[in-house]
Amino acid sequence: MNDTRFPEGFVWGTATSAYQIEGAANEGGKGESIWDRFCHTPGKIAGGDTGDTACDHYHRYKEDIALLAELGIPNYRFSIAWPRIFPEKGKVNPEGIRFYHGLLDELQKYGIEPMATIFHWDLPQWIQDEGGWASRDIVPHFLAYAELLFREYGGRVNKWNTINEPWVVSMLGHGTGVNAPGHTDWYEALAVAHHVLLCHGLTVRKYKAMGFTGEIGIVLNFTPTYPATESAEDKAAAARYDGYFNTWFLGPVFKAAYPADMAAWYAAKLGPLRFIQDGDLEIMNTPGDFLAFNYYTRDVVKAGSGFPLLDVDFAATDADKTDMGWDIHPESLYRLLTRLKEEYTQLPIYITENGAAYDLPVVGGEIRDDNRIAYIHDHLEACLRFIREGGNLQGYYVWSFLDNFEWALGYQKRFGIVHVDYETLTRTPKRSAKWYSDVIRRNGLPERV
Ligand code: FCB
Repeated sequence: MNDTRFPEGFVWGTATSAYQIEGAANEGGKGESIWDRFCHTPGKIAGGDTGDTACDHYHRYKEDIALLAELGIPNYRFSIAWPRIFPEKGKVNPEGIRFYHGLLDELQKYGIEPMATIFHWDLPQWIQDEGGWASRDIVPHFLAYAELLFREYGGRVNKWNTINEPWVVSMLGHGTGVNAPGHTDWYEALAVAHHVLLCHGLTVRKYKAMGFTGEIGIVLNFTPTYPATESAEDKAAAARYDGYFNTWFLGPVFKAAYPADMAAWYAAKLGPLRFIQDGDLEIMNTPGDFLAFNYYTRDVVKAGSGFPLLDVDFAATDADKTDMGWDIHPESLYRLLTRLKEEYTQLPIYITENGAAYDLPVVGGEIRDDNRIAYIHDHLEACLRFIREGGNLQGYYVWSFLDNFEWALGYQKRFGIVHVDYETLTRTPKRSAKWYSDVIRRNGLPERV
């Protein structure tokens, strides 16, 4: 067997999300989202950027999907903008519904298989005004939205993600406050995480009850964490950070339980976790069809007071970093995959995001992002190692198809394999896009650049 080949049928794709690429923030009957509100609040986004126009994908989706096809990328992960579907309470927007049918038509035309994410952070502002994710009252709203999507698109989309990155929605949206809606209350953040996982479980049940036979699952994000030293204090700090980032979400979804040590830690710091009701954990544990996760980096931590929720500090490392300042550490992806298989699930795994931010100038019409190629190459090698050892990894989606609006960091961080000129909105495939096409064509890795 050729060592650099992936199993036949391996799912190769690339990913985006609605708010990061669509633009047309006030067009097509769309309502306001919490990200629209957040972007227009001074001081929240680097450079004062907003998603108002983004990549203008709303108007250019045909051109974008044609480019995907030209690059030979057979799978496309995108998200649906909830406020395009329900701009106001109780109001469905037919134009929004039509937009995603149009997108699916284009994908179908080229035989590109969609993976749709129901929620990738752009909560309708009207739901936020009623308490948003912090309130359990969000549950019926989420289910009504998911049910409508299944009715409309369930016959056309066979891969569904319920929610993208509950850790970000809860901890960054409601704990650190760097993401919309910008709240800074750790107890609330935990309540949000709880409601997110509850909506996930109920949505899986809804999908199955409606009789669909496609696949559905959640997208978690993981950051493997290491202690800065072998001291008992640092090891305990790393275990807490792992609990906070990784196992707080894995536990409910795969074991019907929050990790007991973390639940005790949080209760001691924040008071009793009153949002947990009887039966909730069983709902969260409703079996999906796969585990999807996003992986970018690892963290190294030590005992300290910099992050009082956990009594940890971040430790500097000498690993090479991307423009995000994130350590490049493919070995951690391999270890993570192995841990998931050994400790959590035998279900098929999809890596629904992996990639790197690098900003390089266009030189003579070309962007030679060899650093991005090396990043993807090395992470795919980690995937191969896991697969060779019997791991059930079935797909990989590069983040991202296009340079796009990187949330609180605005347009400065470029993750695309396709460059976007934000003045002219011209798309230019980078060297990495051509390299990735080649990987897909050969279903395996070429020589490292
Ligand atoms: C993930 C998000 C995605 C993108 C990448 C860089 O956390 O899911 O939208 O911002 O990070």
